[in-house]
Amino acid sequence: MSIGHAPTKKVFLKTYGCQMNVYDSERMSEALAVDGYASTETMEDADLIILNTCHIRERAADKVYSELGRIRDIKDERAALGKTTTVTIAGCVAQAEGEEMTRRAPAVDLVIGPQSYHHLPKLIARNHADGKSIVETQFPDDDKFKELPERRRTLATAAFLTVQEGCDKFCTFCVVPYTRGAEYSRPVAQILSEARKLVSHGVREITLLGQNVNGYHGVDTHGKDMTLGGLVRELATIDGLERIRYMTSHPRDMGDDLIAAHRDIDKLMPFLHLPFQAGSDRILAAMNRKHTAAEFVSLVDRVRLARPDIALSTDIIVGFPGETEGEFQATLEIVKTVHFASAYSFKFSARPGTPAASMDGQLSEDVKDDRLKRLQDLLMQQQRTFNAACVGKTFPVLFEKAGRYAGQLIGRSPYLQSVHADADMSAIGKILPVEIASVGPNSLAGVVKSL
Ligand code: 5AD
Ligand code: SF4
Repeated sequence: MSIGHAPTKKVFLKTYGCQMNVYDSERMSEALAVDGYASTETMEDADLIILNTCHIRERAADKVYSELGRIRDIKDERAALGKTTTVTIAGCVAQAEGEEMTRRAPAVDLVIGPQSYHHLPKLIARNHADGKSIVETQFPDDDKFKELPERRRTLATAAFLTVQEGCDKFCTFCVVPYTRGAEYSRPVAQILSEARKLVSHGVREITLLGQNVNGYHGVDTHGKDMTLGGLVRELATIDGLERIRYMTSHPRDMGDDLIAAHRDIDKLMPFLHLPFQAGSDRILAAMNRKHTAAEFVSLVDRVRLARPDIALSTDIIVGFPGETEGEFQATLEIVKTVHFASAYSFKFSARPGTPAASMDGQLSEDVKDDRLKRLQDLLMQQQRTFNAACVGKTFPVLFEKAGRYAGQLIGRSPYLQSVHADADMSAIGKILPVEIASVGPNSLAGVVKSL
């Protein structure tokens, strides 16, 4: 392994969107650290600026172009001082826009899709050598994960680990199958080795990531297929790894062995993010979700049978083309039946190139706003109810970082809630029992109990 250069250059990296982008950004900065780049929070100081972009909902590309206006000015100011600034657009907007990006924004030097991050240092060097902008949005054959440098020491106690990329589901509203490509699962051995490395650096909790993570089917060391349930069981044997989570899942891929893992594996946290998107079967079919409302509810019942205390979270879209008020009511009904601990809800946003963008019956923003508000009121009420029921209970809390006030730390409950408690800095990285005393809308507060 390369021992790397002492940092001589600075990189500013801004991440938009999902956790998969957060993970990718970490891997990019680790690759760049080997190449002599230290991180900076100040764009004006940066020799290299990277925007790791998201394309999932509207105006993502517009936001990037407006940020590029500011970056162009910084690039010009630095050039006047004799300094070069390499501007890189990564992520899903890069993948979707490609060449268009360098045409519309000549300040951009490098456009790089998510499958090519292991080539980043090489591509920057090429741009420095000939000054020509580069667009790299192919899906190369080589294995990005094998090529990227090993995980470095971080101060974090909780880390992300991408185990699966891409999506073959083709929900009619979604850009992911186009920007992230076909489903790919990393081999089990590679994941276990990365997990062990993270644990050796002090990580206690790992969240396995994938656009369709429970569709995971990687090869094990015997060349056989392994499911996510199997992978969780393997990871659970790693000493020092205390907590395992995963996201995001599709209801169709929620296999029996994964449900059984929730029953059997203590290290697998009682939290499940399971998007259902809409409550009407007609809309679900138009979305190409491949499940009905009743199937979703019965799946939730099976998961709860295996792990009665599991906290459920979901994604919901309102205002899909043609959605009637009655069909929207069906979405509210599912929420009322299931009771979610938390949820993300969105107005339908027409994404160019997806089938739903050109469907009849596009709804007005007013209708979408109204439905979103009614849905969010209900979801907020459920989140408060879930949190309020925690008062008086004692949870194991993994402390992650200092809180806003002196002497206060922030950690996470098994149900992914933020928990504030007074504790010594030495508690960071430890799991301690905390009795919950009060709740806010988005967090809990409690007292560390003596062991
Ligand atoms: N419009 C609105 N929401 C969307 N999502 C994905 N695509 C769209 C879209 N075109 C939401 C889905 C998905 C989450 C990550 O983003 O709910 O689960
Ligand atoms: Fe997009 Fe998720 Fe549907 Fe895949 S399963 S197309 S990532 S919403």
